[in-house]
Amino acid sequence: MFTDTHFHLDHDFYEDYHQVLERAREVGVSLFLVSACSKESIREIWMMEDVKDVYFTIGYHPSEADTVTDADLVWLESLLSHKKVVGIGEIGLDYHYGKKNREKQIALFRKQLELAQKYQMPVVIHTRDAMQETYDILKEYSVKGVLHCFSGSVEMAKAFIARGFLLGIGGVVTFTNSKLYQVVDAVSLSSLLLETDSPYLAPVPYRGSINGPWNIPVIAKKIAEVKGVSTEEVGRITTANACQLFDLQ
Ligand code: NI
Repeated sequence: MFTDTHFHLDHDFYEDYHQVLERAREVGVSLFLVSACSKESIREIWMMEDVKDVYFTIGYHPSEADTVTDADLVWLESLLSHKKVVGIGEIGLDYHYGKKNREKQIALFRKQLELAQKYQMPVVIHTRDAMQETYDILKEYSVKGVLHCFSGSVEMAKAFIARGFLLGIGGVVTFTNSKLYQVVDAVSLSSLLLETDSPYLAPVPYRGSINGPWNIPVIAKKIAEVKGVSTEEVGRITTANACQLFDLQ
């Protein structure tokens, strides 16, 4: 059994989410966490409200920092008690396109960390070209969570794990030019979650095609090779990790 702890429900890519889930279930992926991180996607996500074994993480991505209002945050807070909402995210910092709105990004990040702390909910962290600053801010809060699509060094990985965070590992681990396998090798399976970040970042040999939760076993197989265990074992342990972090049954 496998879990996709992070993918996006994007209508431009998927015409029918039932088909997406069915295709994933056929290859053993049976637990799903959909990430909705803009106002639009948070509005859309409720169409899956009654789908079994599908849960949501909701929050405002740093790319939304210029447009999110206080009222939007009040709305977000009002949704956190819904039974399908199990985490806040993805939230964080992204300086890939520059630091022009750095202050706004930090303010938005902090407001959502305060919500996570208030409601004792795990956070899903997006960090790009901002690893150290993300770490320094997180240190100020009593929160747990996952570093989504982790891409840092072994040292940063260990520093986050020491603070109670897990690492989300996706298709990048299969890329030939990626050093992510070194991180996977250096940390325990108990610190890892599987994710596809679909529809982006399809693993080798499907790079360039639309990614979907059905590719989770491809990522698990690569991790299994690095760790010297079976693919099933990777699925079992990372699913248990996800259930523990997000408090799923
Ligand atoms: Ni994502």
